[in-house]
Amino acid sequence: MKALDSLSALKGTYVVLVEGSKDIAALTSSGVVGDFICVQSGGGPVRAAEAAWKAGKPAVILTDWDRRGNQLAEDLRINLMSLGVVYNTRIRETLSYLCAPYAKDVESLDSVIIHLQRSLLDMRGVVMGAIIVVEGIDGTGKSTLCARLARELESEGFEVYPTAEPTRGKVGRLIRSGAFEGVSQSTEALLFMADRNDHTEEMLWSASEGKVVLCDRYFASTLAYQSSGLDGSSVDPGVLMPLCEAFARVPDLTILLDADPETTMGRVRSRGEDVSKFEDAGFLRRVRERYLLLAQEHGFKVIDASAGPDEVFEAAMREIREVLRCILLRRSTRRRALSSKGRG
Ligand code: TYD
Repeated sequence: MKALDSLSALKGTYVVLVEGSKDIAALTSSGVVGDFICVQSGGGPVRAAEAAWKAGKPAVILTDWDRRGNQLAEDLRINLMSLGVVYNTRIRETLSYLCAPYAKDVESLDSVIIHLQRSLLDMRGVVMGAIIVVEGIDGTGKSTLCARLARELESEGFEVYPTAEPTRGKVGRLIRSGAFEGVSQSTEALLFMADRNDHTEEMLWSASEGKVVLCDRYFASTLAYQSSGLDGSSVDPGVLMPLCEAFARVPDLTILLDADPETTMGRVRSRGEDVSKFEDAGFLRRVRERYLLLAQEHGFKVIDASAGPDEVFEAAMREIREVLRCILLRRSTRRRALSSKGRG
């Protein structure tokens, strides 16, 4: 966009030599204003160079960056030089460098720009913020930990986006309402996945705005819970994994709070809350085993949740600080790279 802005900034002081009228249309719809001369409809490179000379202004050569366009640019350069007209090829070089992977002509510039803007947003999504997930069986203290982590990160100047699954969105609310009581674990897995699909968009958007997304449960919950044989029904992790890959994103960090179900169930009961169908010690033991396997496979950071709350919090903050340090570093490196590309 900076290259195009610099092109617009030359209006009135430069003429822009393009191949045809479709190029002008693409540039105009990309927001570029300029004094254009069409090389082909204007009678070829000799006539175009003469038109620039008559205009008494320097020229920007903006032909396509395929073989024909390169040849035309060279012909224009020779003709402009012989007439003593100053010319600029730098903007063409920058645009060709940025656009070459997608298109070889000026005519496609408007659609390429939309594509580049999307990938820039994608890049920001990866670079600017962070997605941190806390997982664990019921009663491991995820919610308490997430709330404390959010307060700490905010006090350190980070913008935090606290969230959880099942969400408070349309699908999440339906799941929580108990409307699907009695459905099979595979149906339940698909429901959690549907809830996650919209949630992932929301999380990525927040991360792209530079926020630290702190999420209480994510795709590992489905992998661990729905494959652990609740009521004798379970889903093969081999079926669940491709769904997770399609509808979720790998977080920057997943913390697994690990504790024995006897301990965690005691906590749940002492809170006086209703015990859900998931809160059964035998089932949670299998969920815990699954979680520990997933931690090995996916590199989750396991924290002993039977330790005191301060110890758990400190251990989690150590992991988070490490991730944020890397992200801040990546962010400044990327910013420098983008601004040096933009200057080009
Ligand atoms: P939970 O985090 O306990 O919600 P809350 O803190 O509001 O009670 O989640 C509710 C239950 O849903 C929990 O027992 C685990 C289960 N669950 C799954 O089985 N699969 C999933 O994918 C998710 C997100 C949750």
